[in-house]
Amino acid sequence: MQGCVALRLPPAREANDLSIAGNLQRFALLAPLLLYAVPNPAERGVDMETFVQNIPAAAADVVVIDDEESIREGCRQALETEGYRAVIAENGLDGLEIVTRAHPRVVLLDLRMPGISGVEVLERLPGIDPRIVPIVITGYGTIDAAVHSMRQGAFDFLTKPFDMDQLVGAVERGMKRWDAAEAARPRVEPDRAAPKPARTESDAIMQGLEAVSAFSAVGARESSLTKTLCELESEAVYHARQLGLVQDKQKAVSVLASDLRMVDRVLEKHEFRKSALIQILLDLQAEKRWLPRHVLMWVSRRLNIPAARIYQVAHFYEAFSLTPQGEHTIQVCLGTACHVRRGPELASSIESVLGIKAGETDPTQRFTLKQVHCLGCCALAPVMKVDDKYYGNPSLDDLKSLFAVSVEKEKNS
Ligand code: FES
Repeated sequence: MQGCVALRLPPAREANDLSIAGNLQRFALLAPLLLYAVPNPAERGVDMETFVQNIPAAAADVVVIDDEESIREGCRQALETEGYRAVIAENGLDGLEIVTRAHPRVVLLDLRMPGISGVEVLERLPGIDPRIVPIVITGYGTIDAAVHSMRQGAFDFLTKPFDMDQLVGAVERGMKRWDAAEAARPRVEPDRAAPKPARTESDAIMQGLEAVSAFSAVGARESSLTKTLCELESEAVYHARQLGLVQDKQKAVSVLASDLRMVDRVLEKHEFRKSALIQILLDLQAEKRWLPRHVLMWVSRRLNIPAARIYQVAHFYEAFSLTPQGEHTIQVCLGTACHVRRGPELASSIESVLGIKAGETDPTQRFTLKQVHCLGCCALAPVMKVDDKYYGNPSLDDLKSLFAVSVEKEKNS
């Protein structure tokens, strides 16, 4: 492992302890350094700052860089005795590499070494991690050297020979200095996803421009777009009024747009074939329970069939309704057989229970009442039919409970 030649294992176990426990301990101590055992962070594809920040819990508290083995070893043992994790290097280049990988808080640094000098190492340390606290240890303790070292960023200056209490005291102060630098370091807030901004007028304008563009692309003019939109908007308001619902314009237009999309789906299902007009209208009737004006106008526009022709078909067949229909259709028979068997009384009872006349839909759009002239089961006369079920001569109480149940069913569905 280049740069780590001077790395020594702490003597927590005997050096030749080859037991599983001994090997595990060695692995635990070496693992952080092995993880980052590459010559250069750039080869990992990350910049130096990211590399340093991503190193897990520091692999060393102190790195001792000194070409004198006795000093290195002495410092390491003294620091480990105090509970610090210490790593040693015998020259400046190895020391810089280990500092890069081991992420120490304090670096003990000799000034005069073969290869690059301690002053040069001192200059490079802030580039590795500006929080590192360098302490100079030198045998040339001149005032000039001390001043120069301090100017280069040394936190303390110890002259050899120094006693271990001095060393440990300086390292302790260095650790506090590192803590203060760490606390003062600006934190980068994680880039949280911003809440989606509310829809603004600008968004609507942008959509409008896109609509103009789409309109122009099919060869239509902008004035035609404006006219069509105004027509549809007034259709929406008309539709809302027809339903007797209190709706603001925005909601009414939204309902209308939803209806037109539904019409498009039905037309697509029938491949926009004009010959399928009756089936298309039946599908639309099934979707809406009636055929609103804007639905028929949209069919007319999409299939290029005159609106008059579409209305002609819709008026002709009983299956179509041009007025809003309730959720349930009640048909009361006033054919001859039913008429002579108290059919009119039954019709009158139904009207009084529902509060509507024949041909009307109640305000809640639940029931539509219709009169018919034979339901084909005269033996049961007088007869009524609710959706698909037939009822022969129901009493007033039967009607009340039947319609109450229908309302309840609808609420629960
Ligand atoms: S007349 Fe009423 S069912 Fe036939």
